[in-house]
Amino acid sequence: MDLPNRPRRNRKNAGVRALTRETVLSAGDFVLPLFLHDSEVDDAIESMPGCTRWSLDGLVQEAGEALALGIPAVVLFPAIDDSLKTKMAEESFNRDGLVPQAIRALKTAHPELVVMTDVALDPYNSDGHDGIVENGEILNDETIEVLCRQAVCQAEAGADIVAPSDMMDGRVAALREALDLAGYEKVSICSYSVKYASSYYGPFRGALGSAPKAGDKKTYQMDPANRREAIREVLLDEREGADIVMVKPAGAYLDIISDVRRQTSLPVAAYQVSGEYLMIKSASADGWVDEEAVMMESLIAIKRAGAGIILTYFAKSAARLLGGVTGEGGQ
Ligand code: PBG
Repeated sequence: MDLPNRPRRNRKNAGVRALTRETVLSAGDFVLPLFLHDSEVDDAIESMPGCTRWSLDGLVQEAGEALALGIPAVVLFPAIDDSLKTKMAEESFNRDGLVPQAIRALKTAHPELVVMTDVALDPYNSDGHDGIVENGEILNDETIEVLCRQAVCQAEAGADIVAPSDMMDGRVAALREALDLAGYEKVSICSYSVKYASSYYGPFRGALGSAPKAGDKKTYQMDPANRREAIREVLLDEREGADIVMVKPAGAYLDIISDVRRQTSLPVAAYQVSGEYLMIKSASADGWVDEEAVMMESLIAIKRAGAGIILTYFAKSAARLLGGVTGEGGQ
């Protein structure tokens, strides 16, 4: 055949594929989510195989291993004792609470590690909602006051980035102001700008015992049917002073990541959430798919869509595979 265009020439061997590759993953793209609890023992999390609820010592060691693999950042999720949960979630701004203790331990052991924290009330709230509940309603402005105290408390303990995942309106501006007033103008805000009311969070809520006691999160998290609304949220957060915007979940929302990437000059993060992780884990445990290959493919897809920062429970395994950063990963 007389074919001047033969796209296969650019795929003919690993070297040419490396030269023509459009997207390359590296360990530096990843943020490792870590669960912790107030206990001396490290507990394997049944609902999330491969994940652990860490003691403080275990947490410090795990973060050290991630750092050694080239992963620059971790994000902390605490499992709070039921006895500390209240309607107003006061434990969320306890200076001696689990998260502040963990931040201090991590920054002491690994000063160069980027410590990111979750700002939301669900682990601390007896209602299991991200905000304060009154007569079944999630209060917006009252919640923001508590979130500000939580973020300042995390900043004071040494957090580098606070990440509001609560989806209250106006919280980014309020957090920025509260942090600046308290002298933490260097602490960044990574906003979960586009967070959908997703069923993919199920295993996470099981891991933390943080599922809502009543109702769902649909009055604050976004409707999975909506695409334009994502841009509205991102532009608001950008105006309010967010440093990084996030889309969550990732895998089923690649169109949203791509839209967001085009609409803002801020760094875009995406969260490959617990349900996404578990679907790959369980399918590969039964031998239905090749875990490493599908893991790498899911991550490259998220990056290709436009996310330069990826929160993933696979961070360590993927970083290990990437090793020399060839970019071909497990495919
Ligand atoms: C809550 C929060 C959730 C996740 C991160 N922060 C759950 C929720 O909104 O119900 C989910 C992460 C995951 O599923 O891996 N503030």
